[in-house]
Amino acid sequence: MALYTAAQPIIVGGCRLPTPIGVISSGASESRASVILYDGMEKVVKNESLVVIRNKNGRDVLAICRGGRGMNDNVRTASFTPGIAYAKTGRSPSSVKEFYVFNLEIIGMIGENGLEQNKLIIAPTSLVEMYTSEDDPMKYLCRSDLTIGHYWAEPRWKVPVLKQYINYHIGIFGVTGSGKSYLARYEVIPLLRKAGYSVIIMDWKGSDYAPFFENVIPLDQVKIDDSTVLRYFSQLTRNFGYLEREENPVAIAVERALRRVEWRGRPPEEARNLIYQYAKATLQQNAGRIKAETLQLWLDRLDSSFELITEEEIERFLGTIEPWRIMTMAKERGVVVIDMSKGEKEQKLAAFYSIARYLKRLMENKQRLDVALVIDEGPQYAPWQPRGLERETTDIIIDLCALGRSYGLSIVILSQGMAGEIGLNAAVRRNLNTQFIGRIHPLDFEEAQKLAASYYISPENLLTLPEGHFYFLGRMNPSPTPLLISFQISEDKAR
Ligand SMILES: Nc1ncnc2c1ncn2[C@@H]1O[C@H](COP(=O)(O)OP(=O)(O)OP(=O)(O)O)[C@@H](O)[C@H]1O
Ligand SMILES: [Mg+2]
Repeated sequence: MALYTAAQPIIVGGCRLPTPIGVISSGASESRASVILYDGMEKVVKNESLVVIRNKNGRDVLAICRGGRGMNDNVRTASFTPGIAYAKTGRSPSSVKEFYVFNLEIIGMIGENGLEQNKLIIAPTSLVEMYTSEDDPMKYLCRSDLTIGHYWAEPRWKVPVLKQYINYHIGIFGVTGSGKSYLARYEVIPLLRKAGYSVIIMDWKGSDYAPFFENVIPLDQVKIDDSTVLRYFSQLTRNFGYLEREENPVAIAVERALRRVEWRGRPPEEARNLIYQYAKATLQQNAGRIKAETLQLWLDRLDSSFELITEEEIERFLGTIEPWRIMTMAKERGVVVIDMSKGEKEQKLAAFYSIARYLKRLMENKQRLDVALVIDEGPQYAPWQPRGLERETTDIIIDLCALGRSYGLSIVILSQGMAGEIGLNAAVRRNLNTQFIGRIHPLDFEEAQKLAASYYISPENLLTLPEGHFYFLGRMNPSPTPLLISFQISEDKAR
């Protein structure tokens, strides 16, 4: 057997072959194996290096090195050894018994028609080779012209994606500054466009997308439907002074006013006065039928509600661009950004809710959309424990996810946290089949441990990922095991 000690790849007839790095150790199964590295290869092979196992029992098997260990019985710390005696005296113990091992996470067997599940036991002593930049192992994953970023080690290895799972929805997770919005802007949105989706982006901060795309609609120009405006006013005025389940004549009067009066497109002062006067007149129509004190109580509650429904509040809802126009614009021009930088949280949620309701209605009428809705700062809309309007937005996101799978709506949600208080609502998260997980927050350590247990990815590794690096997992990924991807940033690509 040849002994390979050099880190250089072997060149045969001018073309480089994957570099031999070691052999499979004892105890391999069809789904798990480890490689004993050739001398010197521990300086070349890295965590997440991509390798091929030349299985002596069958076809080649693609795998990833994950979780390496250096072994040397001379310096075991469980009990006293001569090596430890050397170390104590400051001398270097013998490294004769030293060797390095990497766990291999199996991706699959390279079959005639692409990647297949590996069902054959991997023979111990089978040769393991590492791909070099001249190879393109991604071609074994699947044949797809749709790709996302590149395998972390090599910008030329574009990672293929399975288009048919785009509307099984996408989640992008990572702490602040991990590169979520960049991943969405540089990779996910261009991918969605290429796959034939029109994209509507909810830009919570107004700085991540709005400056980089042509078609931007400011929040206060979006027309918010009357029932959502009423819901906002109820929230603002604590249900117009009524208990939640109580009959609420004031809310009914204001709702009627919102529906009957043409108040949008007018100056805020005039709009507010029109709504107030109409609601007041509606309540006064009951004079004679009810006790005078009751009517007075209603009118007082209307007045005190309108102390809170100021011109400023009305101004938030004077927009006239209806959701159907946003949708048409997205269809015609490809991408539309809703710039939500100016506005209160509840107003932002109201605008989102209005658009979401429209999309839901279309799908309920069995219309196929081919639209993607990108929601940055996801927990603002669907937090762990939703309150007020958040309850409505959380529920509607869940509904959109369910309908979207049948009617071509893809939901893309970005979130700093995964689970618990800092995370995304669990019911929403369950709907995001494909996930990109970047550097996580220490509060998500437990969540990371679950990943670690299934795929050998160490939680410490997830806590320290560099910016712009994400584990790609879920059905859009042709590999059954997560792949570590990254992407390059260049200005013209993002538009
Ligand atoms: N692929 C990349 N290569 C190099 N730098 C990157 C890459 N991706 C992101 N960055 C850097 O990381 C910074 C933060 O990225 P980004 O704004 O996308 O973070 P974020 O996760 O969206 O944060 P937040 O949760 O605060 O919105 C960027 O300003 C950019 O400098
Ligand atoms: Mg961001």
